[in-house]
Amino acid sequence: MTTEYEICLAKLSEAPKKWLVTGVSGFIGSNILETLLKLDQEVVGLDNFSTSNGKNLDEVKSLVTETQWNRFAFIKGDICDLDACRKACEGVDYVSHQAALGSVPRSIEDPILTNSSNVTGFLNMLVAAKDGGVARFVYAASSSTYGDHPGLPKVEDQIGKPLSPYAVTKYVNELYADVFARTYGFHATGLRYFNVFGPRQDPEGAYAAVIPKWFSGMLHNEPIHINGDGETSRDFCYVDNAVQANILAACSENNEAVGQVYNVAFAEQTTLNELYDLIREQLAEKVPGLDVPPPVYRDFRFGDVRFSLADIGKAARLLGYAPRYSLKSGLEKAADWYIASLQ
Ligand SMILES: NC(=O)c1ccc[n+]([C@@H]2O[C@H](COP(=O)([O-])OP(=O)(O)OC[C@H]3O[C@@H](n4cnc5c(N)ncnc54)[C@H](O)[C@@H]3O)[C@@H](O)[C@H]2O)c1
Repeated sequence: MTTEYEICLAKLSEAPKKWLVTGVSGFIGSNILETLLKLDQEVVGLDNFSTSNGKNLDEVKSLVTETQWNRFAFIKGDICDLDACRKACEGVDYVSHQAALGSVPRSIEDPILTNSSNVTGFLNMLVAAKDGGVARFVYAASSSTYGDHPGLPKVEDQIGKPLSPYAVTKYVNELYADVFARTYGFHATGLRYFNVFGPRQDPEGAYAAVIPKWFSGMLHNEPIHINGDGETSRDFCYVDNAVQANILAACSENNEAVGQVYNVAFAEQTTLNELYDLIREQLAEKVPGLDVPPPVYRDFRFGDVRFSLADIGKAARLLGYAPRYSLKSGLEKAADWYIASLQ
């Protein structure tokens, strides 16, 4: 059976669009870029290299044809600079806005810095896209917006109080998107990602996410730390699923679907203890002789949500979202990438 996503990809190939991907040299942005270029789309990328460098873009370049790469124009610029945002939006049909400072601990250490990219930068992008006549604006929201709401699985209209400055910024994005729809008739669609992982997610630095950090740690024979008792759970989402959600949301012809907020996940709950075993098994299969010691447990991390699981029914119903990769099949792909790039 042909899926909504396949139909959407075929339409894009037939009638290419001009896209702006912000945060294009980051993890999710570079994966969106790769998919769009392989579909022969024209893409403008905006990034200030604050949490990335040119490496991901070099890799994308190596994965597409020269003609496809020539359809990409990179602007080194900051979304806190309104003029840079306006320039990037010129002639653009669809915006996929990924640029932001991720990480809960970073936001606790420096809330002003996180606020500037995630709130001021977001607002600049909304204004530039609205004034520039952009047809569709899709942005990276976050599951952190559920905050202290105890309900599981998470449904879009039931949120709690934010648990970190980062969560506040992502919730403010949704509030601005809503107000721009009411005030200016400019609709922006939010994608609440749940722990996205996959190739090109940075394993380095104090703010690295758990999956890249553990791949790197196990491959380099370093101790693996688990914050808390390991029973903290997450709904881990392979990056191909997040790319799919961006493309479906940008191309949707369903008026009811535009301007909404959606959970983007696989809809399966996995504890950190289970994740540790899954990653170790993947690596053991692929790297003979690899010796991975048991994990080291330490204190819970402040600001972290305890359990997480998404209901993805709304995205399925309104956007036709159907994740193609489970945690396990995604980890297999991610393992190949980390082995190739870290060993
Ligand atoms: N990875 C996840 O699990 C996850 C979960 C929820 C939400 N998100 C959101 O998804 C988006 C992409 O995340 P990612 O994991 O790819 O992160 P990333 O750090 O790999 O990519 C973000 C990119 O944005 C750029 N950037 C940051 N501030 C900027 C600024 N002021 N101007 C221009 N560029 C700037 C960075 O240099 C980087 O290349 C972010 O908005 C993040 O908050 C990610």
